[in-house]
Amino acid sequence: MNIILLGPPGAGKGTQARILVDERDMVQLSTGDMLRAARTSGTAMGKKVADVMDRGELVTDEIVIGLIREQLEDTSHAGGFIFDGFPRTLAQADALGALLADMGHKLDCVIEMQVDDDALVARITARSTCGNCGEVYNDATKPWPADGKCSNCGGTDQTRRADDNEESLKTRLLAYYKQTSPLIGYYYAKGDLKSVDGLGSMEAVAAAIKGALG
Ligand code: AP5
Repeated sequence: MNIILLGPPGAGKGTQARILVDERDMVQLSTGDMLRAARTSGTAMGKKVADVMDRGELVTDEIVIGLIREQLEDTSHAGGFIFDGFPRTLAQADALGALLADMGHKLDCVIEMQVDDDALVARITARSTCGNCGEVYNDATKPWPADGKCSNCGGTDQTRRADDNEESLKTRLLAYYKQTSPLIGYYYAKGDLKSVDGLGSMEAVAAAIKGALG
């Protein structure tokens, strides 16, 4: 099964993708994680996208489509792919359809995660991640463990993203509504769209996604 998790910044795409990976042996393909990895390893591409990401704007279609193409070619299909944060523009959506068709695969479902803007701001400004394994935490709903060690890997590197501030978030939200939200209509018209309430607890959202996937 190949699915897209579609939603604004902070909707819980990464959190739910990790649950699906654990439960269904699926492979998470997050363009945000790929771009952050390129920045950390200091590649030319990573340096090129750093300022764009920190401002909260979208990286060019050419770069992210290239990253996804590489991953699809190099990764075994396993239980299917979860596209997290990709596609984000109509050009990226068309490119994904073509890449999957070239590989003899198809898209099975697009899950739109609906969360209102106030909740997004609260979630993002409280987020931290484990610098070692990427486990996602939240000061309010899933605090970093009191013993200072990540509950998933035992790492001690609690990090906060450079774009998780109110100023960048405004730009990220604007980019979502201008460039990404048209994908809701695009996938609805194709008959692939299922919408879930992303405002409930992480467990409730996971159950809603499970129901949508059948
Ligand atoms: P990316 O990394 O994709 O960021 P994003 O889309 O802004 O999404 P986030 O990772 O911020 O949020 P999420 O929905 O995964 O939420 P999470 O699960 O962490 O992209 C970053 C940047 O890279 C972009 O701005 C752009 O520059 C570039 N980029 C990436 N892909 C691109 C593309 N395709 N094209 C062009 N540019 C691209 O949850 C958030 C918080 O809420 C956490 O603290 C979590 O614990 C908490 N939480 C989650 N679920 C719940 C719940 N149900 N209840 C309470 N709290 C919850």
